[in-house]
Amino acid sequence: MRLAIIGTGYVGLVSGACFADFGHQVVCVDKDGGKIDALRAGRIPIYEPGLDDLVATNVEAGRLSFTTDTAGPVADAEAVFIAVGTPSRRGDGHADLSYVHASVREVAAALQGFTVIVTKSTVPVGTGDEIVRIVRETRPDADFAVASNPEFLREGAAIHDFKHPDRIVVGVDDERARAVMGEVYRPLYLNRAPIVYTGRRTAELIKYAANAFLATKITFINEIADLCERTGANVQEVAHGIGLDNRIGSKFLHAGPGYGGSCFPKDIAALAKTAQDFGTELRIVGAVEAVNDARKRATAGRVARACGGSLDGRTVAVLGLTFKPNTDDMRDAPSIPLVEGLLAMRARVRAYDPVGIGQAKKVLTGVTYAEGPYECAEGADALVIMTEWEQFRALDLGRIRQAMSQDPVVVDLRNIYDPERMAAMGFRYHSVGRPPRG
Ligand SMILES: NC(=O)c1ccc[n+]([C@@H]2O[C@H](COP(=O)([O-])OP(=O)(O)OC[C@H]3O[C@@H](n4cnc5c(N)ncnc54)[C@H](O)[C@@H]3O)[C@@H](O)[C@H]2O)c1
Repeated sequence: MRLAIIGTGYVGLVSGACFADFGHQVVCVDKDGGKIDALRAGRIPIYEPGLDDLVATNVEAGRLSFTTDTAGPVADAEAVFIAVGTPSRRGDGHADLSYVHASVREVAAALQGFTVIVTKSTVPVGTGDEIVRIVRETRPDADFAVASNPEFLREGAAIHDFKHPDRIVVGVDDERARAVMGEVYRPLYLNRAPIVYTGRRTAELIKYAANAFLATKITFINEIADLCERTGANVQEVAHGIGLDNRIGSKFLHAGPGYGGSCFPKDIAALAKTAQDFGTELRIVGAVEAVNDARKRATAGRVARACGGSLDGRTVAVLGLTFKPNTDDMRDAPSIPLVEGLLAMRARVRAYDPVGIGQAKKVLTGVTYAEGPYECAEGADALVIMTEWEQFRALDLGRIRQAMSQDPVVVDLRNIYDPERMAAMGFRYHSVGRPPRG
């Protein structure tokens, strides 16, 4: 099939490369000429494991190409996927749909023959109806249908998730569009990935409900971790104990510094606003948002308490800046309020991240960036493990101990080290929701 993908970011590029790998003919479009130039030169503008090889193979096979021109690929396509950003609107937390609306106008102007316009971007319920209205207004003669096909991939495991999804959700109210979408996903259907067909509004809401539920799980275990700290219980064991119950499940029960990233914060805020617009209050969602925001803002204070109260003039080493491992994405990373809080408490902050420093420099100033974890720890009074990159799980702790100051504090916000062992090595070790020793 001939597909056009509008927006070549984390979702658009991965989707485009995977669709091409299924055998479809794919053109990825982006407004950002620098991104398209890089891709044409064989450079991948984001960090996503395995994506460079997948793109190279499919470009070489002639199934995948890149352009800044929307009109040509859209005119040729049977399905056009909208994968542009839907960030939080400044001020009120609603999803900012300006990129979606602008791209739909461009797509509408170029439509030829029956075409399915598919929203892969995360958009509030009812956006599909608005897209229909925009296309009709721009091109009253167009033969088209609008489908919702929200994306559930996780950055860092995006290719695997796209090719082995738990489910594919397709919201269509039109039989021809349903047939096209069935054909697009036929290779995955053959692999037994379940396709869930729903109405368009339902599909739009499934995406937000999924993210809100996952954010709730994280926030729930984080609050239980706080209670563990007061009571001497161990949150990892609590999570294990409840997670073995199939009705609960073990995923997303890792206590930590609070969720961040390119999706959860903005999607939770947008869902709460949508509910308000429709005269319903989602109180649980509102509480999750408030509890998580407070938690992220409190992280620097947690480090200060671990250091005896004051950070004035102390050096704090931060390991990991991206919102999770295996991505360079810094959008809404919990490291941002942490570092800002540390600097506000007059700490000297040194930071290291395996791939995120380039992006981090755009959002975090006043930080010294180190070349590696040991250089980062050099002379530090406290070391904070912020992102659980694989390489931080197997640090040479003797070397870290030697590099740090006399009375070294480690604040492990991902619970990757053993409290007993850390204490035995001479660290003042603090983790999340676990007794200081075993
Ligand atoms: N990143 C994720 O893990 C993830 C997962 C699931 C869903 N989503 C959703 O997918 C959507 C895209 O997210 P992302 O992280 O890929 O965003 P992104 O910012 O990485 O990419 C968006 C791209 O769209 C381009 N763009 C904007 N307007 C355009 C236009 N008119 N024509 C062509 N290109 C245009 C931008 O230049 C940018 O490269 C969002 O709605 C997001 O919520 C993201």
